[in-house]
Amino acid sequence: MSDYLFHRNAEDRELGRLRLIEAAVDADTIGLLEDTGVSGGWRCLELGAGAGSIAEWLGTRVGPEGLVVAVDRKASYLRRFSSSPYRVVEGDFRTLTLDGTVDLLHARYVLIHNRQDEELLTKIRNVVKPGGYAVLEEPDFTSALRLNPCGDEADRRVNEAICRMFTDAGLDPAYGLALPRKAEDAGFEILGARAAMHLCPGDAPIARVMAKSALVLRQEYTGTGVATDEDLDRYVAHAGDARRWSVYYSTVSIIARVR
Ligand SMILES: C[S@@+](CC[C@H](N)C(=O)[O-])C[C@H]1O[C@@H](n2cnc3c(N)ncnc32)[C@H](O)[C@@H]1O
Repeated sequence: MSDYLFHRNAEDRELGRLRLIEAAVDADTIGLLEDTGVSGGWRCLELGAGAGSIAEWLGTRVGPEGLVVAVDRKASYLRRFSSSPYRVVEGDFRTLTLDGTVDLLHARYVLIHNRQDEELLTKIRNVVKPGGYAVLEEPDFTSALRLNPCGDEADRRVNEAICRMFTDAGLDPAYGLALPRKAEDAGFEILGARAAMHLCPGDAPIARVMAKSALVLRQEYTGTGVATDEDLDRYVAHAGDARRWSVYYSTVSIIARVR
């Protein structure tokens, strides 16, 4: 069964959520990918491609001589990639058989959703050619619990519910913090690591992503017994209030190389 918490989200709402994630963090991701030197003719793999903006950007960099394989368990938002350099593969990355190796693999907010993350990291290492790069980015939701400046009790309970929901599902809400070590254990050399704390005003894209996620996962959040419906409504209202600054989560990004 899929571990992915958003698997029951309605198609259009999930697409909207994925587009907000892209609007919020693509610029940072593209900066990291540029640091690898990705250019014409490279073979790339975008794991957990979601709505596909990063796969699309990679295609513009590698050009017609290159290759961009966009992999997702659910490829319904990737149908526009029907010709070279793009190839779309639908399925669980752990069980896919792929031809050859790639120069660059990118995955953002994917490992945290997989209980068998170590298996996934090993597969990533095997798919990247020796000397090639993996750019991996994962969230840490415990940042919101520890670092929030506003001290609102309802927000605190919702942030605790988010962490509890991951823990109850056998997943790690602080996955980003463990990412560098886990990647090293999987045989990667870490060339660089960066942590971005998402401290933003209520109407910023990150705040809107988190509000949308809260509405979609209302039952899961309240089902932890930590936050109530009223807490959730308050959290969502704060996430729409431009005068209110909150830490929503952090993103840990690494550039790693396969020796
Ligand atoms: C939170 S979304 C992020 C989408 C995109 N990476 C982004 O940041 O805009 C996670 C995506 O990873 C996909 N995913 C999670 N585990 C996967 C796996 N084991 N194999 C393939 N896709 C996976 C999900 O289907 C989903 O589209």
